[in-house]
Amino acid sequence: MELHKIDQYWISLFLTAIILTINQTAKGAGAEGIGVNYGLLADNIPPPESVVAFLKSKNIQKVRLFDPNQNVLTALRGSGLDVVIGVGNEDIERLANDMSFAASWIMNNVAPHIPNVNFKCIAVGNEVSPDSLLHVTPAMKNLDAALKAINHAIPVSTAIEMRMLSSSYPPSSGAFSSQFMADIVAFLAANSYPLLANVYPYYGYDPKYVRLEYAMFTAREVVVQDGPYGYKNLFDAMVDSLYWALEKVGGNTVKIIVTECGWPSAGNGDIATIENARTFNNNLIAHVLSNSGTPKRPGQNIETYIFALFNEDLKAVGFEQHWGLFYPNTTEVYPVNFSPQ
Ligand SMILES: *[C@@H]1O[C@H](CO)[C@@H](O)[C@H](O)[C@H]1NC(C)=O
Repeated sequence: MELHKIDQYWISLFLTAIILTINQTAKGAGAEGIGVNYGLLADNIPPPESVVAFLKSKNIQKVRLFDPNQNVLTALRGSGLDVVIGVGNEDIERLANDMSFAASWIMNNVAPHIPNVNFKCIAVGNEVSPDSLLHVTPAMKNLDAALKAINHAIPVSTAIEMRMLSSSYPPSSGAFSSQFMADIVAFLAANSYPLLANVYPYYGYDPKYVRLEYAMFTAREVVVQDGPYGYKNLFDAMVDSLYWALEKVGGNTVKIIVTECGWPSAGNGDIATIENARTFNNNLIAHVLSNSGTPKRPGQNIETYIFALFNEDLKAVGFEQHWGLFYPNTTEVYPVNFSPQ
């Protein structure tokens, strides 16, 4: 009798261990954390079906698209990948003013792929200019209403650039420059949707004022002390400046997803080098997957999409063509470890 109980105890402990292991494996496989931006400004990248197979072969399970490209979405059907899908900036004003256009945008671009595509979020515009920002909240509301009308729940947000902050140094000075950000944040907070942000230490790095190690996640000691918060890397400082800005407009509960981050491998002297890009992106992945969070949000994972999957030859000449982790022929520009320990 006693023996039987002990057996049951060990069996249940064993099963619990197996279940925990399976959960860990699912997480380690990229269910949380790292994705890539799949840009299409190139005339030499593989067709979408090949790209989706390539992503899966690399264990990359999240992808961001800038447009509702139907060939790409069709290729993504049944892939199991998480997808952030973008609304073109040129459509935002009409989406804001015309509910039937918002309904047809959802019916044409999103509805046909549910449930075969895992839509993670809809990004209503990318780096919308301050002049057009007033249209973003009404456009988000209309798309959200259109989704709810057909009983679908997909977070709706917008991807902002760091220039939407009037100040970001020190991080606690972070504040939005546009009054319209308060409307956007109120909508996100009310619906528990995340704010999407393009966070580039590359643009914040200036060798005159910033140590390379601070940009590269390789500083061993605190470089910037901001009240109780000590910063060893620029990425955390930039993300926290956004969290401070959110708090100042009532967005304490709004989470940030980093929709773009990366480092170009050529085209800007000794800053954009293969060595720097390799160091930055590998350390970024390790940082994100460590789930250490930022000094202001310790332990909160920062889902991050690396810019970009491929070098894109139709972008402006110079470093803009060299953000890719891979050449168009899928050879790696430098080794990237998507599953560091
Ligand atoms: C892929 O393209 C890169 C850059 O053009 C080149 O260096 C490399 O040799 C190519 N790899 C293959 C397998 O063709």
